[in-house]
Amino acid sequence: MADLAKADWSDSDRVKSIADSYHRRYGDHFWKELVQLVESVSIHTLGDFGCGPGLFLRDAVKEFNASKIIGIDASKEMLSYAREISLANLSKVKVELIEQDFDKSRINLPTQSVDLGFSGYVLHEVADPYDFVQQIYRTINFKGGYVVYDFVSGNPDEFVKIMSEGHMDPEKARKRYPHMCKHSISDIEDILIREGFSGTKSVQLDPIRAIVLGIKGSGQ
Ligand SMILES: C[S@@+](CC[C@H](N)C(=O)[O-])C[C@H]1O[C@@H](n2cnc3c(N)ncnc32)[C@H](O)[C@@H]1O
Repeated sequence: MADLAKADWSDSDRVKSIADSYHRRYGDHFWKELVQLVESVSIHTLGDFGCGPGLFLRDAVKEFNASKIIGIDASKEMLSYAREISLANLSKVKVELIEQDFDKSRINLPTQSVDLGFSGYVLHEVADPYDFVQQIYRTINFKGGYVVYDFVSGNPDEFVKIMSEGHMDPEKARKRYPHMCKHSISDIEDILIREGFSGTKSVQLDPIRAIVLGIKGSGQ
């Protein structure tokens, strides 16, 4: 049976559709709230865990003036899009793209080497969110942060409505709701805290999406 939380991200049509939907998923409201949420973090190295087509990294470089970006994803096709299209014209930024499946092997970055980690629409897809966040926690610098941006539970009707506007068939959206919206905001905060982050803060952007931040080492 198909994984209802996760699409086949090696399919070129799906790579294109996730890239085409980027501006709808990462609008001005998202950027305004993200920038405010992470204002305490000094960002030189940015890691996108589940970077997909790399469009968040492209915009985050400009927004945060990062000098190094790292994108990790299991899909070769997504990484090719990131390398050849989204990140092709960046200058004065060190770019590292790594093919890795978080469910099958461990993140191989140096300990405490990333100032801000980010995962957009990924937490609901990984097999074990605790293990995923634990892998990321090790790579985050002291006083650095990790941001999860994802669908959240609580409003199936709005999920179906919003996903239908984004061209997902309503019946498919209803079936996918429990898989794509499997976490509440407090579930995500609990996962971050259990794996070592503290000082969590969150913003609900709309009825079905939220941004959650955890800081490494705050209050200790
Ligand atoms: C919905 S897409 C989001 C991509 C990007 N973050 C964005 O918002 O445009 C989910 C991405 O997570 C990646 N992904 C899901 N599970 C993964 C895993 N276990 N290991 C590595 N990457 C994974 C997929 O390949 C895909 O690129």
